[in-house]
Amino acid sequence: MNENVAKLINTQINKEFYSAYLYLDFANYYASAGLDGFENWYKVQAQEERDHAMLFYQYLQNNGEAVTLTAIDAPEWTRGDNMAPLKKALEHEKYVTSLIDEIYGAAYAVKDFRTMQLLDWFVKEQGEEEKNASDLITKMELFGTDAKGLYMLNSELKARVYTAPSLVL
Ligand SMILES: [Fe+2]
Repeated sequence: MNENVAKLINTQINKEFYSAYLYLDFANYYASAGLDGFENWYKVQAQEERDHAMLFYQYLQNNGEAVTLTAIDAPEWTRGDNMAPLKKALEHEKYVTSLIDEIYGAAYAVKDFRTMQLLDWFVKEQGEEEKNASDLITKMELFGTDAKGLYMLNSELKARVYTAPSLVL
């Protein structure tokens, strides 16, 4: 594999684990706030991020590239009201999209079609992640300010169940 592409993917493993860590801390926040549905939503989200990390890990392994695991940063976000994690999540997903795009650009530059094919899945996934994060902000704006609305929204988010990623390596 191209050295730069392999290096960027190796870094992305860390970034995905960081995402999992950030979302676990959101779950942690909502658990303290008594919103178990929001907690569940972000626990599932954290699981998905671990899956993303493992997909990149496995991809490097499958291509004979050594993986270097590095320290994961502490989750960095400013606690505030119940909307704060939702806004941070959207901002974070946009950042992750920029990272995926950067790896795609590097793979494209060296005609690494195999990596581009892998990343096609992630490009689509990021589109979904940004939409989910954005939709949740809209719902919170519409219903979250009213106690009954918040109760209903919390119940809706509690129903989310984890499903394994559609991409298998
Ligand atoms: Fe991810």
